[in-house]
Amino acid sequence: MDVYEAVKSRRSVRGFTDQPVPMEVLERVLTAAGNAPSGSNIQPWNIYVVTGEPLVRLKKLATERVANGEPWDEREYVMYPPDMRFPYGERRAAFGRDRYKALGVERADTEARMRAAIANWDCFGAPAALFCYIDRGLGPAQWSDLGMYLQTVMLLLRAEGLHSCPQMAWSQVRKTVAEIVQPPDELMLFCGMSIGYEDPAVSFVRNERAPLDELVTFVGG
Ligand SMILES: Cc1cc2nc3c(=O)[nH]c(=O)nc-3n(C[C@H](O)[C@H](O)[C@H](O)COP(=O)(O)O)c2cc1C
Repeated sequence: MDVYEAVKSRRSVRGFTDQPVPMEVLERVLTAAGNAPSGSNIQPWNIYVVTGEPLVRLKKLATERVANGEPWDEREYVMYPPDMRFPYGERRAAFGRDRYKALGVERADTEARMRAAIANWDCFGAPAALFCYIDRGLGPAQWSDLGMYLQTVMLLLRAEGLHSCPQMAWSQVRKTVAEIVQPPDELMLFCGMSIGYEDPAVSFVRNERAPLDELVTFVGG
């Protein structure tokens, strides 16, 4: 698959079939993704791939926990600053509106919104997930390395006919994830990622992007 096609066809898919993802495909993708760049080549990503019975158990524990209204685990990093300056807060609000429009859910319908949110911890039906951890001693520059690695994984998944959804939502139940993957204490969970084959029956709204001149300044040339 052409790189442009991989970039354009990647989106956060929130409806997967239960078709298993072959382990050799995951190994091929994660081996190639290891070529992602990182400052001084320190490769700060620590990845746990969860499939099969452990994933079934994790989904059950996490969805039950959220459905029972249990509190989130205390935060280890700030997901979004409380006051996001224009245009970030506005973009986030637009994303929320589009998301609920795709689901046909009214803003005031908190129960339906909660049901939609809970799908996060069921991996939107996906049969595979990865969890990306970083050493607590590393800083913002190394967190950006994680982003490069994760996008590389997502593009390679497209080349394999697979889709994905990166999910910070998993950090809200990080202790439940830790029960299953048992990471060493020095690692902090950044996000999960659901991986699988898209269920074409699930409707979605493509998230629009800001125009080039809003985001990019060409100096010279
Ligand atoms: C680091 C990161 C965390 C995200 N966390 C979630 C999440 O918890 N749940 C979810 O449904 N989508 C999550 N997303 C997906 C974003 O909402 C999505 O990337 C954005 O709206 C752009 O849409 P697209 O990925 O479909 O192009 C996350 C994306 C990133 C990069």
